[in-house]
Amino acid sequence: MSGSAGRFITLEGGEGVGKSTQARLLQEALKTRGINALLTREPGGSGGAEMIRELLLGGDEERWSVRSEALLFAAARADHIRRTIKPALAVGRWVICDRFIDSSRAYQGGAGLVADDDIMALHQFGSRGLMPDRTILLTLPIDEAAERIRKRDGDSSDRIGSRSDDYHLEVASVFLTIAQAEQKRVRMVDALGTVDQVSGRVLSAIADLL
Ligand SMILES: Nc1ncnc2c1ncn2[C@@H]1O[C@H](COP(=O)(O)OP(=O)(O)OP(=O)(O)O)[C@@H](O)[C@H]1O
Ligand SMILES: [Mg+2]
Repeated sequence: MSGSAGRFITLEGGEGVGKSTQARLLQEALKTRGINALLTREPGGSGGAEMIRELLLGGDEERWSVRSEALLFAAARADHIRRTIKPALAVGRWVICDRFIDSSRAYQGGAGLVADDDIMALHQFGSRGLMPDRTILLTLPIDEAAERIRKRDGDSSDRIGSRSDDYHLEVASVFLTIAQAEQKRVRMVDALGTVDQVSGRVLSAIADLL
């Protein structure tokens, strides 16, 4: 392939930090640079994975054990990669993905119930361990994120989003641990400030890939 190989970028962080907003803005910013990036999201992003998404996010809290949940995420991701992400990267297209493997590590590993090695083993099995070229971890104080969600959704939230504050603090701390351990891949971006300010920071955090 030529030197214009597509890059695989993921956005990570807890609920309401601005991942979907920034994923869209990154796609637009790349477009002005002549890069037509594919924007996708997890869980979902392919026919089979969207079906699994409904299983994962609907229903009541007891619907799945954390281990079943980890398996379902891994299965959805395998389908998403095979049908959507890999074909795009194979033709040199950039891919921006709203949540990816680090969300599994933070949310299923975060409660301490599934070991990080086990989550990575599932990823190896399902998806040959495909990792992003760059991961943007958006960081925001939990009360600010909660306020953004409240403004967006009112009182409704999905099966995972509705878990306790302690759980979400644990999730945030696993994300930080990952960022510290994998500094070459993961860049932390302060998500406080206006949408445009944050977008500028996201762009700086991928500038070396352009
Ligand atoms: N920098 C910002 N300042 C204020 N509000 C913001 C900012 N960025 C995003 N928002 C708003 O906050 C809400 C949450 O943003 P967004 O949906 O992008 O977050 P998310 O990380 O994708 O959330 P989720 O994890 O629930 O998918 C949205 O209503 C969005 O318009
Ligand atoms: Mg979102």
